[in-house]
Amino acid sequence: MDYTCLTTTEIINWLRKNLNEERYIHSLAVADTAKDFAKRFGIDEEKAYIAGLLHDCAKCFSTDKLKDYIDQGVEITPDELPNYKTYHAPVSAYIAKTVFKVTDEEILSSIRWHTVGHTNMSLFEKIIFLADKAEPKTRPAEYLEYILKDFDREDGLNKALLACYKATIKSLADRNLTICTPTIDVYNELLNSVEG
Ligand SMILES: [Fe+2]
Ligand SMILES: [Fe+2]
Repeated sequence: MDYTCLTTTEIINWLRKNLNEERYIHSLAVADTAKDFAKRFGIDEEKAYIAGLLHDCAKCFSTDKLKDYIDQGVEITPDELPNYKTYHAPVSAYIAKTVFKVTDEEILSSIRWHTVGHTNMSLFEKIIFLADKAEPKTRPAEYLEYILKDFDREDGLNKALLACYKATIKSLADRNLTICTPTIDVYNELLNSVEG
């Protein structure tokens, strides 16, 4: 099935032109990891691959350019507004929709929410969220070992996501940074689900 107006090669060429080297390598690795996870959980591998490729497509836009998109109507929640690093998620979803002509709502929402996540995420959103954190090309090996330590156990996807949120919350707290409410809500939801 065609999820975009471009071929995979054309998407990869676009990414090569619009991302820096590290982000380009990361994006290809997220796509491969998302495809592996999709196979593991029995969902559409090609769709996961496309979402992985496009999830950070606006990541290397300047902050001013990202702000312009938001000023022009790309929606962002009040929780995300103080942290400009989160802006690339809604803008990447917007670019996926307008430049790459993605119409699949699951692809678009997985891109939209890959930074902060939200409660009650779908399986597809969880897979893209985890693939972003668990790709082996640019993420540190110790981090991967930590977040994937229980991945092969029962409810391993939620356990891996919980480990991601734990690591994020610890890191923010250690740096005296604020933790937005949705992050805490997702952490609580995952904690209750894996313990419940
Ligand atoms: Fe991102
Ligand atoms: Fe990413």
